[in-house]
Amino acid sequence: MEKKVFIKTFGCQMNVYDTNRIYDSVKKIGFHKTQSQENTDCYILNTCHIRDKAKEKVYHEIGRVKKIYKNKKKPILIVAGCVAQAENQEMIKREPYIDIVIGPQSYHKINNVLSNFESNKKNEETEFETISKFQFLEKIENKNNTVSSFLTIQEGCDKFCNFCVVPYTRGPEFSRPFIQIIKEAEQLIKNGAKEITLLGQNVNAYSYKEKNKEFRISDLILELEKYSELERIRYTTSHPKDMTDDLISCYSKSKKLMPFVHLPIQSGSNKVLQLMNRKHSVEYYIEIYEKLKKINPNIEFSSDFIVGYPGEEDVDFADTINLIKKIEFINSFSFIFSPRPGTKASQLELIDKDILNLRLLKIQELLFKFQKKMNNSFVGKEIEVLVENKMKDEKKLFGRNKFLNSVIFEGNKKNIGKIVNVKIDSCNQNSLFGKIQLKKNMKAA
Ligand code: SAM
Ligand code: SF4
Ligand code: F3S
Repeated sequence: MEKKVFIKTFGCQMNVYDTNRIYDSVKKIGFHKTQSQENTDCYILNTCHIRDKAKEKVYHEIGRVKKIYKNKKKPILIVAGCVAQAENQEMIKREPYIDIVIGPQSYHKINNVLSNFESNKKNEETEFETISKFQFLEKIENKNNTVSSFLTIQEGCDKFCNFCVVPYTRGPEFSRPFIQIIKEAEQLIKNGAKEITLLGQNVNAYSYKEKNKEFRISDLILELEKYSELERIRYTTSHPKDMTDDLISCYSKSKKLMPFVHLPIQSGSNKVLQLMNRKHSVEYYIEIYEKLKKINPNIEFSSDFIVGYPGEEDVDFADTINLIKKIEFINSFSFIFSPRPGTKASQLELIDKDILNLRLLKIQELLFKFQKKMNNSFVGKEIEVLVENKMKDEKKLFGRNKFLNSVIFEGNKKNIGKIVNVKIDSCNQNSLFGKIQLKKNMKAA
């Protein structure tokens, strides 16, 4: 009998990619994807451990699942993702409702574990076996059929910023074989992908060596460029240290690489960057920014900021504000420092909560100001939009411009998967709104 599987995904794009691959994988043993969390045979929580009370959130989610299935047959409950990796068997001890705990580098084992599942036996798989994982996934077609698709090329991190759990939850840096990635990209393109975002916790650290040749992310970009059906290439998340000249030169060599760089800096103060063990200075970051702007003045930037890292004083925070004013990031993420268990920074003395909240408010106010400034600059103009899907209300279309801004507009759904011109007539902080325009040689659709 056909069985159903539901996955609730938290965290970064890499978890979104993993979720899609888990769906592809378990289908082989008869578990089919469902959108209904109320009526499934297997319920997977794909978790994130990056901030706040991540662990508690997972137990809270399990509480919800328990309620849903109070008077029904219990689904097989699997905790996957970064909390699973960090907490492993502790989770099963604390919450017997959990059946299986599986870390992100053990997904190649999921079919076996599920096939041999017995309700009275718990299972925990949290070894770092990235090579085996990708060798297994290579044999299973990537069935994702979205216009904009993610493709993981690299996993893990060797940089050990003092605040971050990723090196502990995703393990050491690992780069997938070049040809394996290209083959998977071909599957995505065959299934309708017009945009591919290459993913990695340190995506631009990608380095695969074969027969005395080193393949870098720049080689992947230039290879993908050759596929005529593919319109756009992006990558995330990159580290300033790995913005090498070959990657920078792609912004002149490639027509498909989008002129939008998400480059986290975390703080505008060298003192704080050093305390964080970020391995780069503010000046170095600005150098990269200037090199990119020189190669293409239209490139726009976004970043991640941590507010209130232990030791951050008013002058350091002022440096961050000045950096934002200099670069005018068009959209960015800002978070209050959250001590993560097991990291070096977890033992440090925290800054007063009122100061933290004030700084967060101030940084977000400024970031939103530049975000709105950018959005306003599109009003009255015609811009190119890759149409991704229909909006939930089924009336309007959703797409993105080159800078990843959300664009919501009137138009025919036949345009999904195409690049169209949209005249923008209004905007808010998060989206642009407008109407599709007919290109001169475009049929009315
Ligand atoms: N590899 C990327 C880099 O080097 O910038 C970042 C990956 S991390 C998944 C995404 C973002 O989460 C980081 O850039 C950082 O701003 C934020 N983050 C990570 N650990 C954090 C912590 N302990 N507290 C607050 N924010 C954190
Ligand atoms: Fe985390 Fe990124 Fe630092 Fe690695 S480089 S430890 S993923 S913030
Ligand atoms: Fe979260 Fe793990 Fe991604 S901690 S941000 S899901 S790498």
